[in-house]
Formats: sequence, C-alpha cells, structure tokens
Amino acid sequence: MNIAENQLLVIFGASGDLTKRKLIPALFELFRQHLLPPGFAILGIGRTPFTTDVFRDSMKAVLTELMKPEEYPDNDMNPFLKLLHYLSVETSQGEAYIKVKDRVSELEATCKTDGNCLFYLATPPDLSEIIARNLSLQGLNHHLTGWRRIIVEKPFGFNLETARHLNQQLLECFTEEQIYRIDHYLGKESVQNVMVTRFSNGIFEPLWNRNYVHHVEITSAESLGVENRGGYYEKSGALRDMIQNHLLQLVSLAAMEPPTRIHSNAIRNETLKVLQSIRPVNTKNLNSLVIRGQYTASTVKGVKYISYREEKGVSPESRTETYVALKLYIDNWRWGGVPFYIRTGKRLPTRVTELVVHFKPTPHHLFCFDEGRFNSDNQLVIRIQPDEGILLKFGMKVPGAGFNVRDVNMNFHYADLKGEKLPEAYQRLLLDCMQGDSTLFTRGDAIDQSWRIVDPILAAWENNPGFPMYGYPAGTWGPQQADSLIDDPAMTWRYPCKNLADDGIYCEL
Ligand code: BG6
Repeated sequence: MNIAENQLLVIFGASGDLTKRKLIPALFELFRQHLLPPGFAILGIGRTPFTTDVFRDSMKAVLTELMKPEEYPDNDMNPFLKLLHYLSVETSQGEAYIKVKDRVSELEATCKTDGNCLFYLATPPDLSEIIARNLSLQGLNHHLTGWRRIIVEKPFGFNLETARHLNQQLLECFTEEQIYRIDHYLGKESVQNVMVTRFSNGIFEPLWNRNYVHHVEITSAESLGVENRGGYYEKSGALRDMIQNHLLQLVSLAAMEPPTRIHSNAIRNETLKVLQSIRPVNTKNLNSLVIRGQYTASTVKGVKYISYREEKGVSPESRTETYVALKLYIDNWRWGGVPFYIRTGKRLPTRVTELVVHFKPTPHHLFCFDEGRFNSDNQLVIRIQPDEGILLKFGMKVPGAGFNVRDVNMNFHYADLKGEKLPEAYQRLLLDCMQGDSTLFTRGDAIDQSWRIVDPILAAWENNPGFPMYGYPAGTWGPQQADSLIDDPAMTWRYPCKNLADDGIYCEL
C-alpha cells in the first residue's frame, strides 16, 4: 500500500451535509487508524460564517453524535479537531479565491504539507466548474514541487451534453490524472469484492458467460423516501440518481473481462468496454425495456406513508420517477443475448442492494422438486448491503425415499469475519485519493459512456410526457408492470430480504 504523503485537504462545502455525515467521520476514522500523514491539515471552506473554533465545535458535536462515547473519549477527538481550520468565503465569486490562496499558503507553511493539496468539491453541482476555474486562475491547480488533485462529487452533469461540458471545463483547469470523480459505490468493500470473487477463484469465471448464465439481476432498493431532498430529487429522479452512476458501475464490474493487472487504467479500460457495449435504448424499443414508477401514499402495518407528490419540495403534479426497472443487453462475445435486469427505487419494502447471477437450468430434468418445479434455480447472490456476503443456491436431495430435490443456500457473511470491520466507502476513497490511486474513481470516458446509455431514455421521457408513469404504493416492490420486462414466463424478480440467510422472504417496510 502507498503511504499518503504530507498534504493539505481543502473541502469546499464544509458546512454542508456531506462534510458532516460522511467526510469528517471518515477522516476521523483514518486518523484513529494512524493512516493520515504527519504533515496534514484540513481546511473547510463554506459560506456559513464560522470561525475555526466554531467549525471545530460543530464537527465535534457531529462526531459525538455518531460515535459511541466509550469508544471515542474526548481526548481521542481533540488532536483530530486541531487539524481542522475554516475559511468563510462566497465560493461563487472570483475575488474569494485570493483569500483561499493566502490561507492555503499559510497552512502549507505552518502544517508542513510539502505543497501537496487535495481539493474536495462537496458542493452543489453547478459550483464544480466555477471552483475549478477559480482555483486555476489563482494558480492553485499546480505546484512546483508538490501535487494537486481535485475530487468531484456526483451528479457529474445532468445529461450527456452537460457532463461533456463539465468534463471539458475541468480538463481546461486540471489534467485527467488530477481529477478524481467519486462514486461512493466503488468505495464499498462488497462492490470491490465482485472483481475479487470473479478473478481470484477458478470456479466461477468459466461459468460467467452466455453459455451458462441465464440472466443477471441487480436490485438497489431503499425503504426511505426522498426525505428532505425533494428539491434535488425532483430534478434528478431515479435514473440519474442511481442508474447512471452506481448501478452501471455494478454492471461494469459484473460483466468486465479480466484486467491485465490490478492497476487503475487496466481496470478502468475493461469497465469502459462494458459500457461501450451496452445496446442503446431507442424510442421504438423503450416500452419493452424500461418501466418507471412513482410511489403513492399507503399504510403499512398501521403506519401511514405519504406519496412522493406530497413530499417537501416536490410538485403535486410531479412526473419524476422514484423507481426504474430496465433490461439491458451487452453486445459482446461474452454476454450476447443475456439480459441484465436492473431496478432501483425509493420506498420499497426494504433497503437492499444485490447482484444476482442466475445460471441456466440443466439440459435434461431428472428430478422433481418439492414445489412442483423440475430443476434447480442456481443463483449466485452477491449481497452488496446490508448483511454483506455471498450466497449460492443449489438443489439438494430431500432425505428419505425417492429423489425429491429442494433448493438450499450456502452462505458467506462478512459479519462472520471476526475482528474485520467493513470500512465506510468514503474512508477508502479518501485514502485512495490521498495516496494517488485512482482505481476506484470514474474516468471521464466512462462517465460519457454511462450518460450515452441513459440519455436516450431521459430524452424520450421528456419528449413524450405520455410515456407511462406507474404508481406503486409505498412499501411495495414497485409497479407490477416491471414483471413484463422479464422474458421467461417462468421467472420473476427476486424479492430479497434484508437478511441474506432469509433470502427470498418477502420483506415489508
Ligand atoms: C446516493 C443517492 O448517491 O446514493 C441517494 O443520491 C441514495 O438518493 C444513495 O439514497 C444510496 O446510497 P447507499 O450507499 O445508501 O446505497
């Protein structure tokens, strides 16, 4: 593992939600594990008129709320809090960056950060271009002896055109090697394990193709609604919010060819090829490939849930999708003809993300199943969250007379690894970027390709408001019409439970 060099981390949007909920807790954890370099400081930049002391106090309150007091006594936290500094400026205004430059120079000298500086844009997307441009105008995008890097948060663009524009603007200020486009799904241990499961075991890879795989299913379900993010979500919707980034990343990892070595560009070249091979959706086949939905009010076990249209910041006539299911084809030799079914939604019965490889049945059915079926439904379930793990389903003889067969599960749960705590995605990604490893960050060409896939769908919805938007009661698995996407009449979507071992049990909110 590379050692993180001395450096200054500058967080734009330091008084915002992401900094509080994810970045500061992840940095504190890195601090506790002694993974931060000796010359290190964090400069928070935001519009809120904090002083450094007030910023430290407010981050202390955040950490205290998140951590168990017995695990993190006060004296543990104080040395970390001393690394924090704050500068209040109006980040949309060019003059502000003179102050930014002065403060960066001052901290570089006092904190001995060797001229290395990482800028984290935890800001609304419309500020990314402005911040990058102003950093560059002040010469903060390069240094004679140190390095400069910039992390850009999602959403990366609003459609293909705006993503390309943003990419071009960033590349005028920073080189591709300096730009780290973050997708927190890639920071999840269980997502990285998709590649390890496939390429470190001789038993899976020979079956991992159109000869043996019937279809692949990816589900990312959330039980929460849009909470207090109605304003953002109205402009985004599930396709932009989850599919364009997180779920297409999962498709890429599940479908990629083995990289020549474990190196950032070798891996990213292979995942890019998958995105390039995904068959475009067009207006003619849209109806048979994409279903969208929006949650309606319902009562589950006596608890009332409001509809999406009643949420704060949402229009009462909103046509924004909170659910999408799609069928994709990857036109290459490995996957020709194998459907990839993908779905995501808010206010579904439970929170679960999983990738399931469904294998083809045996060519000749010898045995009879308890449930009247004649073949085992072999599935490899890679559980991304919660209860991270892997489950393999196969048929087993029911003890006793005859040859009756029943499906059983073979499970691995990360929770069973004693003493191994799964790190938070932001912890891993921050550390990787601090160490200059871009493997788990998205390259500009992959962002372009993923927008190429979703853009025609967005355009078709926009140009054809009559395209059906199906309602589904909060707490259910989405519109029934999504069943029609599945080609094989004998197959349905899986109904994953939040507990991997109780797989297949229908969960409710
Ligand atoms: C974010 C989306 O990128 O991912 C959210 O904006 C979504 O709407 C979240 O809830 C899901 O992330 P996770 O890690 O909870 O699956």
